[in-house]
Amino acid sequence: MNKAKFTVSSFIDFKEKGTKVSMLTAYDYSTAKLLDEAGVDTILVGDSLGMVMLGYDDTLKVTMDDMLHHTRAVSRGVKNALVIGDMPFMSYHISVEEAVRNAGRFVKEAGADAVKLEGGADVLDKIKAIVRAQIPVVGHLGLTPQSVNMFGGFKVQGKSEAQATKLIEEALLLQEAGCCSIVLECVPEKLAKIVSEKLTIPTIGIGAGKYCDGQVLVIQDMLGMYSDFTPKFVKKYADVGSAMKQAVADYKKEVQEMTFPEEKHTFKIKDEVLEKLY
Ligand code: KIV
Repeated sequence: MNKAKFTVSSFIDFKEKGTKVSMLTAYDYSTAKLLDEAGVDTILVGDSLGMVMLGYDDTLKVTMDDMLHHTRAVSRGVKNALVIGDMPFMSYHISVEEAVRNAGRFVKEAGADAVKLEGGADVLDKIKAIVRAQIPVVGHLGLTPQSVNMFGGFKVQGKSEAQATKLIEEALLLQEAGCCSIVLECVPEKLAKIVSEKLTIPTIGIGAGKYCDGQVLVIQDMLGMYSDFTPKFVKKYADVGSAMKQAVADYKKEVQEMTFPEEKHTFKIKDEVLEKLY
């Protein structure tokens, strides 16, 4: 597919034209290359990799080294999509200086085009400093999984008037701080609509309904490759998990029955060389 590079200014162009932004997660070279070739606009190397790639039960144990390792692999596979590195828990919480240094590592060491970090008013100083360092920032509001212990579980956010008002105010603050877009996770559809209408930067929804300016899904969820837990907002676009299991079972059977490898999979040796080996 022939496609122009999605840059950080494409976020505003898309919003102004009313074109929806597609975002998917990827964590490795070959998946990122496939997503890029399929024309997805933006690829998020999400800290969800802690759950779907590393098998943790939340995202809190993910380290900067994990994130840089996977972001490097993704960057090597991508030509056109905007690559966003997700700042892991505790990589931007301690100080502004540490936040800027870690955001810079995503760009310098891992080839990311932008970083994402979770939170509202509490992280404004970090967002402003990272943007001042010329690194585009994607915000993340609503169900921010790094705050799972404060929320008391993975729960829909913004249902009460107080929560909804706070979310709208924080979205405006993130925009003012220089975010180029904001992920809205697990918030009521009608609240996400209000937020999207109030902002000039795009909202990217996950479990936030169709009125967001774009959508993001975790690739393992939408391809049916992660069965530990499937949130209500996930649509399975393919059952790659079943296809993989079937392929592996077929392979095992053919290995046992010696129907794999076939002649076309093998290499030849000259008879005169062979004779000398017996
Ligand atoms: O880590 C992640 O994949 C995310 C998306 C779910 C938005 O933050």
